[in-house]
Amino acid sequence: MTLHELPAPAEIVERTEESASIFTLHLRFVDPARQAAFRSSPGQFNMLGMHGVGEVPISISSDPDETGLIGHTIRAVGRVTHALATLRPGDRVGLRGPYGRGWPLQEAEGGDVVLVTGGLGCAPVVSVIDYIMRRRARFGRLVIIQGVKHAEDLIWRQRYEAWACAPDTQVWLAADVGGPHWAWDVGPVTVLLDHAEFDHSKAHALMCGPEPMMKAVAERLLADGMPPERVWLSMERNMHCAVGHCGHCQLGPLFVCRDGPVFPYPVLAPWLRHRSL
Ligand SMILES: Cc1cc2nc3c(=O)[nH]c(=O)nc-3n(C[C@H](O)[C@H](O)[C@H](O)COP(=O)(O)OP(=O)(O)OC[C@H]3O[C@@H](n4cnc5c(N)ncnc54)[C@H](O)[C@@H]3O)c2cc1C
Ligand code: FES
Repeated sequence: MTLHELPAPAEIVERTEESASIFTLHLRFVDPARQAAFRSSPGQFNMLGMHGVGEVPISISSDPDETGLIGHTIRAVGRVTHALATLRPGDRVGLRGPYGRGWPLQEAEGGDVVLVTGGLGCAPVVSVIDYIMRRRARFGRLVIIQGVKHAEDLIWRQRYEAWACAPDTQVWLAADVGGPHWAWDVGPVTVLLDHAEFDHSKAHALMCGPEPMMKAVAERLLADGMPPERVWLSMERNMHCAVGHCGHCQLGPLFVCRDGPVFPYPVLAPWLRHRSL
């Protein structure tokens, strides 16, 4: 076993409430040498575990260049994530990682980048936005598209407003169900593709979120002329080992933990309708 396959204690240094069910834990390995050695790239994930409760895969939402703290934005949906929601600064979790193949950011250099996210899908791409903002001259237009079910599900409203003011950056938001304080579109995220301006032939599209949403957006981008190999999806599947041994995350011939979670659309397309274990 290599060092990153063994869980090590990490302390919660800060905790941010993002919404009623979503929170961010800012963690630091208790062992300073392990913290200093930790390096991740946008799109990778860690396994967060609580003794006697279980372990779950969670994307790294912090900027990979910020090596002091490791950020994880989590929605409490079940046993482990509800237990993680009870943690406060000073408490500890077991942390192992980083795992998986992240976004193709070097390949995307020189062209426009379109980020399409649904629900909490924005967490894995926040580190992409930070990455591009720090290296702005290397990329073309940055298009940030986010869809939520209900207007009140939107987290990081201030971040979206700040990104919308950045050079060469467009932010488009939609909710299936709007509300009195919702100033953006109402409808599926695909409606936002009508507004977004980018060069389909040279852009890369990076997507996370519910699979039907990603499939609909991918099909629309392909119909509009984007080459399929420039469309990338991040998959969520139940995981156990996270290192390609147990088969829990298997999708046809692919292991999401080892071969993904980010895949080019042509590799994933035949398997998109298969459910996880
Ligand atoms: C690569 C990867 C990255 C991930 N990144 C994140 C992340 O950044 N933040 C985050 O919050 N989650 C993320 N997830 C999802 C997270 O791992 C699961 O939500 C978690 O495993 C649920 O564990 P649990 O024990 O709390 O729920 P369980 O007890 O396993 O599930 C309880 C119920 O919740 C449902 N459920 C499980 N997962 C989800 C979900 N994602 N959305 C809605 N309902 C669900 C189940 O179907 C079940 O009905 C990621 C998953 C993968 C594979
Ligand atoms: S989680 Fe075990 S093979 Fe992917």
